[in-house]
Amino acid sequence: MHILLLGSGGREHALAWKIAGSPLVTKLWCAPGNAGIAREAECVALDISDHAAVIAFCKANAVELVVVGPETPLAAGIVDDLTAVGVKAFGPSKAAAQLEGSKGFTKDLCAEFGIPTGAYRRFDNAAGALAYVRARGAPIVVKADGLAAGKGVVVATTISEAEDAVAMMFAGHFGAAGAEVVIEEYLAGREISFFALCDGETALPLASAQDHKRVFDHDEGPNTGGMGAYSPTPFVTPELHDEIMGRIILPTVAGMKARGIPFRGVLYAGVMLTEQGPKLFEYNVRFGDPECQVHMLRMMSDLVPACLAACDGQLGHFALRWVADAAVTVVMAAKGYPGDYQKGSRIEGLDDAAMVEGVEIFHAGTAAREGAIVANGGRVLNVCALGKTVTEAQARAYQAVDRIKWPDGFCRRDIGWQAAEQERQQ
Ligand code: AMP
Ligand code: GLY
Repeated sequence: MHILLLGSGGREHALAWKIAGSPLVTKLWCAPGNAGIAREAECVALDISDHAAVIAFCKANAVELVVVGPETPLAAGIVDDLTAVGVKAFGPSKAAAQLEGSKGFTKDLCAEFGIPTGAYRRFDNAAGALAYVRARGAPIVVKADGLAAGKGVVVATTISEAEDAVAMMFAGHFGAAGAEVVIEEYLAGREISFFALCDGETALPLASAQDHKRVFDHDEGPNTGGMGAYSPTPFVTPELHDEIMGRIILPTVAGMKARGIPFRGVLYAGVMLTEQGPKLFEYNVRFGDPECQVHMLRMMSDLVPACLAACDGQLGHFALRWVADAAVTVVMAAKGYPGDYQKGSRIEGLDDAAMVEGVEIFHAGTAAREGAIVANGGRVLNVCALGKTVTEAQARAYQAVDRIKWPDGFCRRDIGWQAAEQERQQ
């Protein structure tokens, strides 16, 4: 089978690694890819926002399946355009991708189908939003409706902070993404992630996985795309798992079907465990990054038939198997991330690091220059490991991190700490 993967981050390296291991695959390309992905796939310098170019590549190379990593091409309708010309594509349609692309769309769906979430109102002007903020009081959450590269959410602890956020969004700070604003009730509780593979009809949960969003140890500092992840997690008990499937995930799949926009692909729910039970605060419509890296390490089943079953509405007949081992991924980022950072510094010791037992290194933002690997992004490397426990996986990942010579990089030293702490207590 000929497969084309779209994207260039650590998530896509993990996907490429997993797909390349499938006996069904005879040829794998990745557009645009990165220096690490080039070990698993042939990287092609396609502009993936140019759908006609992607289609032409698929036709010329008899591509039978396109796997889409990031949300931007999904929101731009790449799956619709490929499907229209007879190329199978894994991921939601443009309309279904609104679950991530429009916060207001998701809130309305929750309201219509009784999916638990915080109270909210949608606004297309500052005056209405400000009046609502003042009426509700703080803490309160202000969200740009559209995709804002993970930066469009302000959790305001005072009314004045919320007012500033409203003013900033309607002033065009996030461009079109902020033309509409959702004001949402602040949900207090533990934040967890939940992932499911969907085929428009049903949903198959993935193994539990959790990222660490803050940049520094002990969950301090600004939010990032994710500084590491671990799987399994101790917080989603079997009862909670069933409650989230029954009250959030399956009603979402059913609601999308009822609206005539079936959801196919990965549904990634951000859920707050409140005193009133789990409440949805956001959806993403793709694998997590870096959660995908631990998912791929632990997925025993072949990913390719799972993607095909999701495209074809056949997941009801499908099961996914996971290795019992735990997995940890540590993100190595360029100093300065998530703020300004330099590109181009040399990274050494990767081969030595990869020799540590159970370790797999995925590249998130690298390039090859004169035979060397150089940093080419904010999040640069994902040092991953399997182990009998999270504690063992963590120790192996950090042993590998310590073999990497990259003075311009940094990482958190405590990825998976909640799970490791729980293991110590058992
Ligand atoms: P997002 O950019 O949508 O991932 O949101 C960023 C962060 O804002 C989330 O990871 C949550 O910690 C927080 N957040 C979003 N919505 C709420 C809410 N309704 N109540 C409390 N925190 C929230
Ligand atoms: N790890 C957060 C995300 O993928 O959005």
